[in-house]
Amino acid sequence: MRILISGGKGMLARTLAARLGHHADHALATPGREELDITDPISVGRVFAEFQPDVVLHCAAFTKVDQCESEPERASQVNVAGSAHVAAACQQTGARLIAFSTDYVFDGHSGPYSEFSKPTGGLNVYGQTKWAGECAIRLNCPNHLIARVSWLYGPGGPSFVHTMMRLNREGQPLIRVVSDQKGNPTSTLAVAGAIEEILEHPEITGTIHLSCEGEATWYELAREIFALTGREQKVEPCTSAEYPLPAARPANSCLLKERLKLCHLKPMPHWQTALKEFLASEFPDCFRG
Ligand SMILES: NC(=O)c1ccc[n+]([C@@H]2O[C@H](COP(=O)([O-])OP(=O)(O)OC[C@H]3O[C@@H](n4cnc5c(N)ncnc54)[C@H](OP(=O)(O)O)[C@@H]3O)[C@@H](O)[C@H]2O)c1
Repeated sequence: MRILISGGKGMLARTLAARLGHHADHALATPGREELDITDPISVGRVFAEFQPDVVLHCAAFTKVDQCESEPERASQVNVAGSAHVAAACQQTGARLIAFSTDYVFDGHSGPYSEFSKPTGGLNVYGQTKWAGECAIRLNCPNHLIARVSWLYGPGGPSFVHTMMRLNREGQPLIRVVSDQKGNPTSTLAVAGAIEEILEHPEITGTIHLSCEGEATWYELAREIFALTGREQKVEPCTSAEYPLPAARPANSCLLKERLKLCHLKPMPHWQTALKEFLASEFPDCFRG
């Protein structure tokens, strides 16, 4: 299988490349933004012509949630127009498209959400442009799979997990973390495992949720990180109102994995199991398990 990964230098893309690169029968291309700029249809066409992918794992996105608020035009160019260009190229060449999206396509007022829940529109520019990007993919390439993931952390970061470990290393006496936002913390290693299985099933199309099982608030996630690594750290809960950010966040954007069950795929691991596995490999010096 010839697999093209867009946004090849990003966090999820690197984990996918590491996992799929082990297969002798896969050829991978992982171009960064300089080699494949998805906002430029000529760049997209050139890379497709040169590499001739059978499958495209579309990871490229403008993911800086707060920066999207001040740069909505760029968010739209990358997340909507860029996704449309990738989808159109897949449609033209017959490549299978697996595109990543987010729990932030939901407003978070009535979560958890299944793949059959209707997104009511994201609360922020990032979520709105990712939803519009999903719509562009559905229009431009009917043979697609949109995989929604959430609260990602993975080797090399950057992520919430890496930020917590850095603050602790720097000797931060107290970390205050919001306890009124709930989601599914998800390891890119778990997503890569699911994608590896999905690649064996070209018949799986539509939308699928690939977040880890179980729910947590950011506060609970922070507590678990320090418990598992055995780091002394004072952590206190706070509200989103006490910690204002440019972009609003959904209160409950947990994702139900209905399609994984319907497609008879392996369940996603529980977030605590996946976090433990990740911490052991990413921070082996301070992991106590
Ligand atoms: N991280 C999360 O918590 C999270 C949660 C839900 C869903 N997702 C989704 O999962 C996917 C992967 O996210 P990630 O966490 O791996 O994000 P990431 O580390 O920010 O990776 C995205 C990559 O896309 C690249 N990119 C930006 N504009 C581009 C363009 N015009 N052309 C080509 N590449 C471009 C970025 O390069 P530059 O850095 O050079 O801009 C970056 O390397 C995205 O679709 C994201 O929306 C992520």
